[in-house]
Amino acid sequence: MKRIVVTGAAGQIGTEMVARLRDEYGTDAVLATDIRSAGSELGPFAFVDVTNGESLDAAVGRHRADTIFHLAAVLSAVGERRPQLTYQVNIGGLFNVLEVARARGCAVFTPSSIAAFGPNTPPDPTPQDTIQRPNTMYGVSKVAGELLCDYYFTRFGLDTRGVRYPGLISHVAEPGGGTTDYAVEIYYEAVRRNRYECFLAEGTQLDMMYMPDAIRAAIELMEAPADSLAHRNAFNVTAMQLTPEKIAESIRRRRPDFELSYDVDPERQAIAESWPRRIDDSAARTEWGWEARYDLEAMTDEMLDELERKL
Ligand code: NAD
Ligand code: SER
Repeated sequence: MKRIVVTGAAGQIGTEMVARLRDEYGTDAVLATDIRSAGSELGPFAFVDVTNGESLDAAVGRHRADTIFHLAAVLSAVGERRPQLTYQVNIGGLFNVLEVARARGCAVFTPSSIAAFGPNTPPDPTPQDTIQRPNTMYGVSKVAGELLCDYYFTRFGLDTRGVRYPGLISHVAEPGGGTTDYAVEIYYEAVRRNRYECFLAEGTQLDMMYMPDAIRAAIELMEAPADSLAHRNAFNVTAMQLTPEKIAESIRRRRPDFELSYDVDPERQAIAESWPRRIDDSAARTEWGWEARYDLEAMTDEMLDELERKL
């Protein structure tokens, strides 16, 4: 991995992924691309809509890239409001990325999600290889994406790799319209107002991870020796299993008067209930040495420190 193009670089993950990749491989080695210009002043940047294969191909060719981190997507909650757009961006965009990578010999990292599982998947623990019949357009696009990436590996020998991220918690860029966004909002609102009204119900348990671990997972997987990987698209990875009240309890260690209330959004609640309560990430641990470093308390301390500074 020496010259990298990142799609969806202005998003929640992309903002931190680009910075980390530039620390690792050099500023000029990493071309950030998006349909939004946020962060474009920080290094090489190009406007690229991934649904436009020619524009993507031109950017990858000009940059002489050997690796694509493909992060452009529409997330779960927006996906239910705009299923046609979600299909075009998540499946059409990925197809373009794979075709460009095939023509130019690039390796490809594509994140899947806990959303690739559905209501009849075993929820606790959810094995690496199991039933995947999601009932959201976002989930459908993620399963299709996993299969497409595996197909390009077996059919064309393309070096495709991916993880199934859980909900990601971060303080740099705000999340882009997912079901797990509450776990980020709760920290912002704790610092702004010392209270939060949650759109998921008490007791809703989902896998979560702090962003520095998520970024490290992607880079470690892309650097792993190919012959150690029995799986490719995509590895379960997790760090912690959280409910709204567990996060609130952790925030109260620092802010004892923090108040949590609920105003449940039935659409996002239904999505959350169709996802696992705990995924089993032993394949990632065994095949490329995956291990999360942040637990809930370490993450809460850093989130509150950073947001108190920022807000
Ligand atoms: P995000 O919504 O924050 O960012 C996505 C970016 O893609 C945005 O900057 C947006 O402008 C860009 N984009 C949208 N349509 C585009 C198009 N047609 N062409 C080019 N760019 C376009 O999302 P994120 O959280 O950074 O997610 C990145 C990837 O990680 C996605 O594949 C997502 O499914 C996956 N993922 C994220 C999470 C999470 O909790 N954040 C969890 C699991 C998986
Ligand atoms: N955080 C993402 C979402 O809620 C999971 O893929 O959409």
